Amino acid sequence: MAPKSVIGNTPASCHLFQPVTTPRSIKIVAGIPMRNIGILLSGRGSNFVAIADSIATGRIPDARVAVVISNKADAPGIAIARQRGLEAQVIVSKGKAREDHDREVAASLKQYGVELVCLAGYMRLLSPWFVQQFPRRILNIHPSLLPAFPGLEAQEQAFAYGVKISGCTVHFVDEELDHGAIIVQKAVQVRDNDNERTLAARILEQEHIAYSEAINIVLDGNFEIVGRQMKNTDSEAP
Ligand code: GRF
Repeated sequence: MAPKSVIGNTPASCHLFQPVTTPRSIKIVAGIPMRNIGILLSGRGSNFVAIADSIATGRIPDARVAVVISNKADAPGIAIARQRGLEAQVIVSKGKAREDHDREVAASLKQYGVELVCLAGYMRLLSPWFVQQFPRRILNIHPSLLPAFPGLEAQEQAFAYGVKISGCTVHFVDEELDHGAIIVQKAVQVRDNDNERTLAARILEQEHIAYSEAINIVLDGNFEIVGRQMKNTDSEAP
């Protein structure tokens, strides 16, 4: 049964989960080949485009975007997916019970043989049920250096706080908000003449680089996760 506790009733992040207690120190050895990528988005889709471009240019080798799914019919990202001739589906979330919607999305991802799910601006709470369907196979990108500034409008939060360095984080998704093991982080310096918009734009540039790097790491599988630490198991790595 799903836990009763929920982090708020409204979306507070580009990905959110109903929290459940999870074991923190299970050692997981990765390495299963994963080539079919599924993208979940709700809006603009620039991270999806960056991933698709990385695949097209060989920066992410031997992978393909198997399907792009949006929970919003008017998401610009889904229009771009269609223009590019990719499988694109709208599975509207409005008015549906969370897990019912998640079951439809998971069924579609499985139908397309998706092994790695990439959240790319997916403005929808995910149920623990969904997370459990793809263990260590869901990635998210967040526009701050986690654990600083989780939740919505992370760039604005960072700017308002007056930090000198912000950035972005690609992490595994677990059942807590912006919380799973970190795969890649990129730092972005805050300039004296920045405003929220200019800072967000420079962070977004780094997001586009970071997401492809993280996908390659996960697809290569030369890592293990011990507690919260992702460790490289490639003996030739520095
Ligand atoms: C990005 O800033 C991402 O970090 C956050 O949502 C935004 C999505 O942007 N999770 P886009 O739709 O990929 O352009």
